[in-house]
Amino acid sequence: VIPAIPQPKVTNPVPDLERIVSDIAEEMRARPDRGEVATYIPELARADPNAFGIAVIAADGQVAVGGDADVPFSIQSVSKVFTLTLALGKIGNLLWKRVGREPSGSPFNSIVQLEAEHGIPRNPFINAGAIAVTDVILSGHQPREALGEILRFMHFLAEDSSIGIDEAVAASEQRTGFRNRALANYMKSFDVLENPVDYTLGVYFHHCAIAMSCRQLAMAARFLAHGGRNPSTGFSVVSAERARRINAIMLTCGHYDGSGEFAYRVGLPGKSGVGGGILAIAPGKASIAVWSPGLDASGNSHLGRIALEALTQRLGWSVF
Ligand code: DON
Repeated sequence: VIPAIPQPKVTNPVPDLERIVSDIAEEMRARPDRGEVATYIPELARADPNAFGIAVIAADGQVAVGGDADVPFSIQSVSKVFTLTLALGKIGNLLWKRVGREPSGSPFNSIVQLEAEHGIPRNPFINAGAIAVTDVILSGHQPREALGEILRFMHFLAEDSSIGIDEAVAASEQRTGFRNRALANYMKSFDVLENPVDYTLGVYFHHCAIAMSCRQLAMAARFLAHGGRNPSTGFSVVSAERARRINAIMLTCGHYDGSGEFAYRVGLPGKSGVGGGILAIAPGKASIAVWSPGLDASGNSHLGRIALEALTQRLGWSVF
């Protein structure tokens, strides 16, 4: 008989959390400024610009959701938080020989810094860096196995095995990902990638095409808000030190050339994706996911950022 896992008592609920979250969802739904839906991956252009979702999972397990919190969307670059976690689990600090951890100040798909910097991408969240991280997860495996490992990790973290890959989005990016192919080939020429470029890119395109809802994403990232542990089961996912460092990279690099603005306005570690999702972490307090497909000029969700700014202001959750 497997003993029941003791559930933590509900202590210190966040006052007014549900009201604040539903207010924000209503305010966002009413706003006329919605940003521009990404079209460079043709399948993403089908997203509804009027969609908006938010999910907040507080330390005591309290869940507050608003809007389209249970509608799955393409998580795109938000997946890079989880692939970074997996790659660090595989090779630890050796990862930093393959990828840096400085903000780039450049767009997410930029190639310019790679030439002067010997093919080593600035950080694990720009496309070049995330492709290098994916290559680490792939080493020693077939692409299908690596992808299975990433997906099982998401199932484990979110406690939800229904999470899957949107094959139409993956195929759409496979057909049109010329820039990523250039980045990967360029890194390969510096021996930064170990595996065949097509294999690494295949895994990368597919993990970017994972579809999740705000609720699932916030569930999956709880360990980052709670010193590396899943607060409901007590299971350790990573050490507290590693969780802190992943958060630091999210804060400095998670929004590309918009990272400074996001820190200034929201004040939380965050990771965006061109599907319009943003994952944000309030250390010790909550894991938060928002989704609105319209993007700003840096490729980050326009209303997602505004919603997070409202949330952190109303709850006093900025880390600063
Ligand atoms: O590689 C790409 O361009 C996409 N699969 C992911 C980019 C992305 O999400 C950038 N985020 N804001």
